[in-house]
Amino acid sequence: KQPAGAPDPSLARKVTKVGIVGAGLMASQMALLFARRLEVPVVLTDLDQARLDKGVAYVRDEIGKLLARGRVSQDQANRLTSLVTGSPAKDAFAGADFVIEAVFEDLAVKKQVFAEVEAVVDPSCVLATNTSSLSLTAMGADLAHPERLVGFHFFNPVAVMPLLEIVRGAATDDATLATAFAVARTLRKSSVLVKDAPAFVVNRLLTRFMGEVVAAVDEGTPLETAEHALDGLGLPMTPFALLQLVGPAVGLHVAETLHEAFPERFGVSASLARLVAAGKPGIYLPDLTLDEEAVALFAGG
Ligand code: 3HC
Repeated sequence: KQPAGAPDPSLARKVTKVGIVGAGLMASQMALLFARRLEVPVVLTDLDQARLDKGVAYVRDEIGKLLARGRVSQDQANRLTSLVTGSPAKDAFAGADFVIEAVFEDLAVKKQVFAEVEAVVDPSCVLATNTSSLSLTAMGADLAHPERLVGFHFFNPVAVMPLLEIVRGAATDDATLATAFAVARTLRKSSVLVKDAPAFVVNRLLTRFMGEVVAAVDEGTPLETAEHALDGLGLPMTPFALLQLVGPAVGLHVAETLHEAFPERFGVSASLARLVAAGKPGIYLPDLTLDEEAVALFAGG
């Protein structure tokens, strides 16, 4: 079924090469998914060779796991390995028809990335952003062709979460949007068209939910009680496990964006800000035991 508001699918352009800016957690998960489902070359770029190597190593590792679990054949694994490459060169995206960025959530950084990409790709190449909360319209303000900028927001883990939020900016044209929906379908994701509004839709719900969990802790509910009291809702993860998956810094950034836009509806938790300031990846240690120092940063900890 065609998602509500999606344009005529016949306007979609063919995608034969994908570029991904960034080689972090979201970007490398996307690289594997694009290669696996679109079966086209996927080039990752990053500023720093060490991050690039780490991103490509992640993809190789995941291909190994798919092979070990019998999800792909040896031939498919070899093909996937050859499809995903990393390059520090800016012109590595030449010939790409779909470039997506998943770099740091900073408007100026993303604008700079797209200015560089626009210099090497054709005017018909779709420029997609995985931003979770920034304005598409602001991001495209200085582009020569802002009509090909679209939001393409994945959820973590990329391979598993079924939905993509597709965002239309003020200038996004129908061919770009139709291409984004067609790519989402080929990736076997369902998609919704959302407005270019702060944190779109999913992260508004998530931020409200997580904000209430943290508020309960700050109002005296022991953190471990809050963490497990929600088991009754049958959610796939506890709230603080989810915070660890998303990353406290990303969560805080989304909360700040929403607070700025809707101060009466969204607060910014001082406990979450303390966790981020302390550089903690969450309340759990890598062996999944509680990090007592991190827990102590919460009022009810
Ligand atoms: N990469 C690839 N595959 C993964 C994965 C990963 N990181 N994590 C889990 N999987 C796969 C497993 O391989 C397994 O696949 P299979 O069924 O084909 O064998 C399947 O997912 C289930 O995994 P597990 O059995 O290991 O574990 P669970 O059943 O506990 O599921 C989970 C793990 C999928 C992470 C589940 O807990 C979940 O859905 N959690 C909620 C995640 C969520 O809410 N994400 C949204 C975050 S918000 C966001 O990203 C937006 C941003 O803008 C902030």
